[in-house]
Amino acid sequence: MRKLIMAAASIAALAFTSQASAADSPIVIKSSHVVAADTPKGKAADKFKELAEKYTDGKVKVEVYPNSTLYKDKEELEALQLGAVQMLAPSNSKFGPIGIREFEVFDLPYILPDLKTLRKVTDGPLGAKLLKLLDAKGMTGLAYWDNGFKQMSANKKLITPADYKGLKFRIQSSKVLEAQFRSLGAIPQVMAFSDVYQALQTGVVDGQENTWSNMYTQKMHEVQKYATVTNHGYIGYVVVVNKKFWDGLPADVRDACAKAKKEATDYGKNTVDKENDDALEEIKKSGKTEIIALSADQNEAMRKAMLPVYKDVASRVGQPLIDEFLKETGRSPMH
Ligand code: LMR
Repeated sequence: MRKLIMAAASIAALAFTSQASAADSPIVIKSSHVVAADTPKGKAADKFKELAEKYTDGKVKVEVYPNSTLYKDKEELEALQLGAVQMLAPSNSKFGPIGIREFEVFDLPYILPDLKTLRKVTDGPLGAKLLKLLDAKGMTGLAYWDNGFKQMSANKKLITPADYKGLKFRIQSSKVLEAQFRSLGAIPQVMAFSDVYQALQTGVVDGQENTWSNMYTQKMHEVQKYATVTNHGYIGYVVVVNKKFWDGLPADVRDACAKAKKEATDYGKNTVDKENDDALEEIKKSGKTEIIALSADQNEAMRKAMLPVYKDVASRVGQPLIDEFLKETGRSPMH
């Protein structure tokens, strides 16, 4: 796979050089992602395409590849660094394998009560500081995009922490998520998003955590008997571009793309709640997955069971960063 990505990167570099010299052939931005087009990220990516092409008067052509059709989770970041693809929006949980652990702070259980609190972080100095970390890896962080809050699903009713014991759960490649499932006595298994449906169907894993939108558009509800409303964590994205490519764009084109990115981000923010609410309704309507609501006491028991995660990952994510995050959000691990 690496060879293929390298070959694609060389072709992309050649194309970029010749595009820069041929005034009338557009600069191509390949934008790859792993979710369905009909999701918060898919819609924001399509909106960026529409606006970037409009604002540059066609000087830029954006090719959007949804649903892991171009690259899967792990490959896409490698491909971006090598220049085989120019734009991505991986979730916060996926930067660990390329050596940036700090975004995993967003994965801490119950650290974000709502999207308003999230925005205090992403739109403030801490959000900007985190984006700067990407420079050293040959990427420029342009924005944060939303998906929403995660829910748990399995073929077994998940009500108390004890219900998770011994079950295998698919996770994204985040050590915080690994610690989260271990705190429940479950067995976490890192897996690409594109493989989750089949893994659930064949019983390779028993359950998973995700947003309603991702569950519905990947048809996970067809292979999971129960889903519990937990809102225990958040999935959001970091929009990243290849730094060399971005810095090399003519200034007017870069400015127009930055404007398109900003408007696509605002558009995404306004659609996200509806996307997840609609997806939940569709799952309910399908009658295939029973939706379980927890009482306040049951919620509290889940939160308490996951509290040790904050200590377990302090050395990986960095205690000062966790403290800064909690200060920004006005939370404490004991909230
Ligand atoms: C996942 O792997 O579960 C999610 O990060 C997929 C996505 O991009 O929303």
